[in-house]
Amino acid sequence: ENHTYCTMVIFGATGDLAKRKLFPSIYNLYKKGYLDEKFAVIGTARRGWSTEVFRENVEKALHDSKIEVEANVEDFLAHFDYIPMDVTTKESYQELSKLISSLEGEFHIPGNRMFYLAMAPQFFGTIASFLKSEGLTNGDGWNRLIIEKPFGHDLPSAKKLNAEIRQAFEEDEIYRIDHYLGKEMVQNIEVIRFANAMFEPLWNNRYISNIQITSSESLGVEERGGYYDKSGALRDMVQNHILQMVALLAMEPPIKLSTDEIRSEKIRALRALRPMAIDEVDEYFVRGQYGPGQIENQEVPGYRSEENINPESNTETFVAGKVLIDNFRWAGVPFYIRTGKRMAEKSTKIVIQFKDIPMNLYYKSEDEMHPNLLIIHIQPDQGISIVMNGKKLDNSKETTPVKLDYCNNCVDQQNTPEAYEKLLHDAINGDATNFTHWDEVALSWQFVDTIYQAWAEKKATDFPNYDSGTMGPKAADDLLNQDGFKWWPIA
Ligand code: BG6
Repeated sequence: ENHTYCTMVIFGATGDLAKRKLFPSIYNLYKKGYLDEKFAVIGTARRGWSTEVFRENVEKALHDSKIEVEANVEDFLAHFDYIPMDVTTKESYQELSKLISSLEGEFHIPGNRMFYLAMAPQFFGTIASFLKSEGLTNGDGWNRLIIEKPFGHDLPSAKKLNAEIRQAFEEDEIYRIDHYLGKEMVQNIEVIRFANAMFEPLWNNRYISNIQITSSESLGVEERGGYYDKSGALRDMVQNHILQMVALLAMEPPIKLSTDEIRSEKIRALRALRPMAIDEVDEYFVRGQYGPGQIENQEVPGYRSEENINPESNTETFVAGKVLIDNFRWAGVPFYIRTGKRMAEKSTKIVIQFKDIPMNLYYKSEDEMHPNLLIIHIQPDQGISIVMNGKKLDNSKETTPVKLDYCNNCVDQQNTPEAYEKLLHDAINGDATNFTHWDEVALSWQFVDTIYQAWAEKKATDFPNYDSGTMGPKAADDLLNQDGFKWWPIA
């Protein structure tokens, strides 16, 4: 009997995430033979769709996602059912329960149940407790709860939410999605570090001068203004994706590659984040909001003129920060981070800058000798570059930087379902390594909450402070300049 055969119940099945990421991912898993025929997908939402309409929508989503849809797609769609639900009434769960049981019989599924909450977070707690009280977690197999961000909007709300879902699910049944952890090159950070004799010995404050993480986007808030204006870049990107990358770069080598060992090293790294006092935040963090500008030669409006945004909004669409990790390995090495909307380009990159050698024997060319860099390209290109110094042609006493590039996958993949496909596959297999543990969530909120407290006390008087199509406000450059560093270009 295979432990991956299961029923997936998707709450929010009429929504954008289901359409763009989940259905294509499930289809890819099916095509690769991971689901066999023993699986069922139940879509649910408020809308009064029939199963027929649901299947049409799933099929349309597959075509829209540009993956190759094969002729036998009907066989795949036959595993999909829809049931409308009001998630606040217990009768809805009783109906759902009946449907699950009948599909388990029909497809010979051994009682394994995966509940995927791809919808507004205010209902997460309610749904979890009804799933338990109405007996939906009493199947013969395993139960797993997959939840999308945001996991609360600060530490107290995250704690409350966690307490609610923990009444119905154990920590090891809860899979908190951070889709960055499904990205190929984010998963590669550990391999680059722990499988290479040439990096790990240097991976500390004796040889690394600073680390820079940039995750820039050229899109604005699009149609998500209602959510984003209450969230802001710090909650939307830093609390989760960026701090997860910090943890992977900073963690100690795990004893082995088990979920518990890896998570516990990440947690230890996050525990070492240097806390800031509220009145110190301005020394370490910079916020920005985009004004109008040009992206790819098109005029674009400023944030305050976007749909569903308060015209006097004080929400940050850009954050840059200097994060310090107080442990033996990292004392004194700044991790600079920046992320924002409507920046010059869509790109996520990590630059590890090594310290200068003790003296320069060579003539200075235009610049000082170039520092060694290791660049991890997360997206759109995926790969690794190393910047080192070589001899300048025809001149034995001058150096010139040479760049060694390894392209992992030169095809732009940023909006394809790959990350979700991997994570869904992991969840079906019971592998929670690339999902965030509650302790990681709590430590990240604790760090981020101080910054918001400081910002809430003082309105940003200079918003908007960067033009669309740029790399953010000048203060983000100053943050590094004052330490004698600069942001390395992302191109
Ligand atoms: C999401 C944020 O978590 O990540 C979005 O809510 C952001 O605002 C997105 O655009 C970025 O993800 P990616 O994979 O495109 O870098």
